[in-house]
Amino acid sequence: MPISPENFKFIQDFARDTAAIVMEPGKEYLAETRLTPIAIQAGFKTLDEFVAQLRTNRNGTLFNEQVIDALTTNETSFFRDFHPFETLKQHILPSLIEQRAGLRKLTIWSAASSTGQEAYTIAMLIRENFPELKDWNVSILGTDLSPTVLAQARQGAYSQLEVNRGLPAPLLLKYFTKVETKWVLKDEIKKMVEFRQMNLFKPWPILPMFDVVFIRNVMIYFDIETKKVILKRIRQCLQPQGCLFLGTAETTLNIDPEWQLATLGRATIYHNRPALAVAA
Ligand SMILES: C[S@@+](CC[C@H](N)C(=O)[O-])C[C@H]1O[C@@H](n2cnc3c(N)ncnc32)[C@H](O)[C@@H]1O
Repeated sequence: MPISPENFKFIQDFARDTAAIVMEPGKEYLAETRLTPIAIQAGFKTLDEFVAQLRTNRNGTLFNEQVIDALTTNETSFFRDFHPFETLKQHILPSLIEQRAGLRKLTIWSAASSTGQEAYTIAMLIRENFPELKDWNVSILGTDLSPTVLAQARQGAYSQLEVNRGLPAPLLLKYFTKVETKWVLKDEIKKMVEFRQMNLFKPWPILPMFDVVFIRNVMIYFDIETKKVILKRIRQCLQPQGCLFLGTAETTLNIDPEWQLATLGRATIYHNRPALAVAA
């Protein structure tokens, strides 16, 4: 169903103000294809009638969640891009384990975690490769804006198609149980991850200091000012020796000079730039 220019402008503003998502001019087709099913399901005859309803309900929750869900891309997979997880396994975790041997505590954040594959990939990787962490306090936090993806993440239930994407067969057999048409993660992995709703664009809740932050394939949808704010906030909740992973199409370069970039294994990681030593 077509959308009028005025209503497309409203949807652009709505996506930006609610979730920082930039919908470029010319992306009318995106609004049309993604919002039409919601409009039809809600009994509207045209998309413009549906948007008119949305306008009158600007501050309510009726349809707002569904609209943001429809406008965001939830694409994810187990071991997405592979190299960041190899670097985590080969370099980052061994070094953190050495540094944190006294505290025996590790804190990892999968921000914009979508349906949970990234957070659970980290959990399985730890369970498989670092048995010594079994009696450490290891917390993995997954956060996302969308209650729909968070609900699936908390269930840890995935379709055949979802487990076919990136998950090695031995891990599927070891950590999942087939329940009817779904593959459900076993509790031993599920209980390693906590999922919380969090909008990166709104004030952040109090967060722990993280050793590792994954925030991948979400900032590509934001404008530069929003990226700057988010990168600064991440610096503030990252341990001095901590590291950040971004998506392959994302970088801190020309956005936030306080980040230092390094190639470790075949992945790019980002550190807080160490404060300059003050000359005596
Ligand atoms: C493409 S997925 C990325 C998933 C995962 N990080 C990965 O790389 O595979 C983007 C996710 O960002 C979430 N998202 C979009 N805007 C957000 C915001 N303002 N705050 C928090 N999450 C947001 C979406 O709901 C979606 O689940």
